Amino acid sequence: MQPFKLFAVLLIASLLFACKSPTQGVIADQAMVVTAHPDASAIGHDILRMGGNAYDAAIAVQFALAVAYPRAGNIGGGGFAVIRTADGQSTTLDFREKAPLAASETMYLDELGKPIEKLSTLGHYAVSVPGTVRGMWDLHQKYGSIPWPALIEPAYYLAKNGVVLTEAEAKKLNDFQEAFYSANDHAIVTLKDNGWQAGDTIVYQELAATLKRIQEQGVTDFYEGQTAQYIVEEMQRNEGIITLEDLKKYEAKWREPLTGKYKDYTVISMPPPSSGGICLLQLLQGIEAAGIVQAEHNSPAYIHMLSELERRAFADRATYLGDADFYPVPIDSLLDPEYIAENLADFDLESATPSNSIKAGEVNVVESIETTHFSIVDAKGNAIALTTTLNGNYGSKVMVKGAGFFLNNEMDDFSVKPGVPNMFGLVGAEANKIEAEKRMLSSMTPTILEKEGELFMVVGTPGGSTIITSVFQTILNVVDHGMTMQEAVNAKKVHHQWLPDRILHEPNAFSKQTKAALEAMGHTFEERTYIGKVDAILVLPDGRLEGAADPRGDDVAMGF
Ligand code: GLY
Repeated sequence: MQPFKLFAVLLIASLLFACKSPTQGVIADQAMVVTAHPDASAIGHDILRMGGNAYDAAIAVQFALAVAYPRAGNIGGGGFAVIRTADGQSTTLDFREKAPLAASETMYLDELGKPIEKLSTLGHYAVSVPGTVRGMWDLHQKYGSIPWPALIEPAYYLAKNGVVLTEAEAKKLNDFQEAFYSANDHAIVTLKDNGWQAGDTIVYQELAATLKRIQEQGVTDFYEGQTAQYIVEEMQRNEGIITLEDLKKYEAKWREPLTGKYKDYTVISMPPPSSGGICLLQLLQGIEAAGIVQAEHNSPAYIHMLSELERRAFADRATYLGDADFYPVPIDSLLDPEYIAENLADFDLESATPSNSIKAGEVNVVESIETTHFSIVDAKGNAIALTTTLNGNYGSKVMVKGAGFFLNNEMDDFSVKPGVPNMFGLVGAEANKIEAEKRMLSSMTPTILEKEGELFMVVGTPGGSTIITSVFQTILNVVDHGMTMQEAVNAKKVHHQWLPDRILHEPNAFSKQTKAALEAMGHTFEERTYIGKVDAILVLPDGRLEGAADPRGDDVAMGF
């Protein structure tokens, strides 16, 4: 199969079967795929057209993103999938990375107990044991309908023949040239002396060979075979701590989804080690628990309400959330309506609650982030929301010599030291301390909504800590503000995460008058160019699908 020869045909087919307008996404009768990259969307669409199910398409898309979107798409990272099959069963797959056996609570601290700068974000010591290949293998074992090799072939073809850079990808690669130099002891394919330009092609020869091995030998190659050897050698040459034993021991986990109600909708989301599901359900239930009346979208009352709910949910996140296999996360208590109502007892319609009166903490840093999300629905109605990450852009910036892919810097998602913020400005506590083989807390929030027992929405986004609040607002935009899926995705977003105690907002998210009204309540502000990059699918009342790709990126929805 050579999907790129089919790309033009598929695009034309899409245009024939789909109509697009600024306020509405791609409309299709049967199936839809929405991803962060045109090549990955074309590949997913191609698999669905061939009769593959949503899970086949997801596997092909995950591998394609590892080639076409290497800043976040990956085989050297991990992720979560929320799955709802056509017969209404739901489950989740946790292929989150885990700490190596040699990891310890103080591994990123100096002798004075202070975090050592960049140790948990850049280079080999920041890398945790990757889960993606195991996750995709297990997904295939359980739900796959097309042979594994056929699902890897498109990514292999892409790596071997090259990826044409979009403007955004060229810029992103140029932004990280120095970091690529600093993290690697060998020449890597993403380095270019005079910089990348839109239209340049990168051929990933080593990655193509890796994908060929994974295609032929399956999961064994990555965790025990030649690719495992390359990873271990990369670690040994550079004082990394991942061993062959770490790789061999890695397991993906099927977990019960977290479900809750919001109005007429059932929300199905990711349990720990993601904080996404718990926080999202707390936020949605908080609206009802506080008896907050409907406020106009992005009005002072609305943004105040979101901020007050969010600061409380993020305070809980920092205190109570971590890998539930290692720490007794009080999930039931956190989602108990009485607890949520109690937590909102000091909510004041007129003034901001200072975050230091909710819980103590000191934070000051927020950096940009990358992760990627895709949503897929097949012709039978099977659905998958999958969010996957290397953590930072290009992860640790380490590309495995001989194997040609980036390794994550997911160790930074642990609480390196209680009270000290990670690269998203998130603080953490005991629940998320580093322990050997533990999974680090995540904000990834792949989510599926049902209405009256039927599939309604498939949604998710990248964005570090803003993932949770972007998914929250996207749901509210459709359910409470009557927006189309595309309008909901396009809408300007705001974000509060308890600490730092300020409202993060996109440019022009609200008027000067709204800002003044919020200031009068005691809120402060910080602007960020983009919040979230949501890729979502809505089932319309007539059963057709609306695929909404976020215009903040190169994202593409394709359906038929
Ligand atoms: N690394 C981003 C997250 O897992 O939330």
